[in-house]
Amino acid sequence: MRVIESISEMQQQANMWRKEGITIGFVPTMGYLHDGHLALVKKARQLSDVVVVSIFVNPTQFGPGEDIERYPRDLKRDLGLLTEYGVDITFVPYSHEMYLQGYQTYVEVKELTQPLCGRSRPGHFQGVTTVVAKLFNIVKADVAVFGEKDFQQLLAIRRMVADLNMDVEIVGHPIVRETDGIAMSSRNAYLSPDERQTALRLNRSLDEARRLVEDGERNGDVILERVRSMLEKGRGLRIDYAELRHPESLQEVSLLEGPTLLALAAYVGKARLLDNRLITPPGMN
Ligand code: PAF
Repeated sequence: MRVIESISEMQQQANMWRKEGITIGFVPTMGYLHDGHLALVKKARQLSDVVVVSIFVNPTQFGPGEDIERYPRDLKRDLGLLTEYGVDITFVPYSHEMYLQGYQTYVEVKELTQPLCGRSRPGHFQGVTTVVAKLFNIVKADVAVFGEKDFQQLLAIRRMVADLNMDVEIVGHPIVRETDGIAMSSRNAYLSPDERQTALRLNRSLDEARRLVEDGERNGDVILERVRSMLEKGRGLRIDYAELRHPESLQEVSLLEGPTLLALAAYVGKARLLDNRLITPPGMN
């Protein structure tokens, strides 16, 4: 596996591949890789001739109160894993090259990024769509794979690609879970063993909501009340949001009449955890 740090070197390699008709699969990451990332890599491998993974802890998607320095990093281990998984290139750009002095260009997806994480992390999605647009221009991917745990991020990226006529196919990958059900995330590294037990409530409350709907409940308030009460019983858990939304428009849903996204974000100790589930009332696919 080759590691490339320079933007122009990455672009030259991508141009060469494209000229030869070699298709490029891409998985953008912020590193500290887990099996969730590796599942995206496997998917990219199935869909393309070569695979590029980027590792870049992107400063523009962190807000003022969010400590980017504290974000977990282990480049050596990440590179070992990516070598094992047969990745062709890991692109690890320098921050000063990604954001040149005087940088002033941003990509913003409007409505889709207002609710949910957009409300609690103003500016976050603008940072994400900007860096992903830049990475697409550098890696020149034919196909890029993103995890559905960050469901709103995936929708925003799909919207950006459609609105700006970007020539890249976006593929979503289902959430990968630990054996105890917790959604894989680099932020799980912040959890103590007790906090981890509390964090299990996110997945369990999603299970409970699905059960309620399977048993015939359609009223959004009733479902959310049950979810919130299950979450609130977790010691040290603070709900950021628990909401039912349309899975394409992210409009609020009060009565379940088709596939509906139940999206959760909660603080457990120092970690802000996300989870979600698409819940479809029986017979309403
Ligand atoms: O999902 C992430 O890890 C990041 O938001 C991404 C897509 C790599 C952009 O920095």
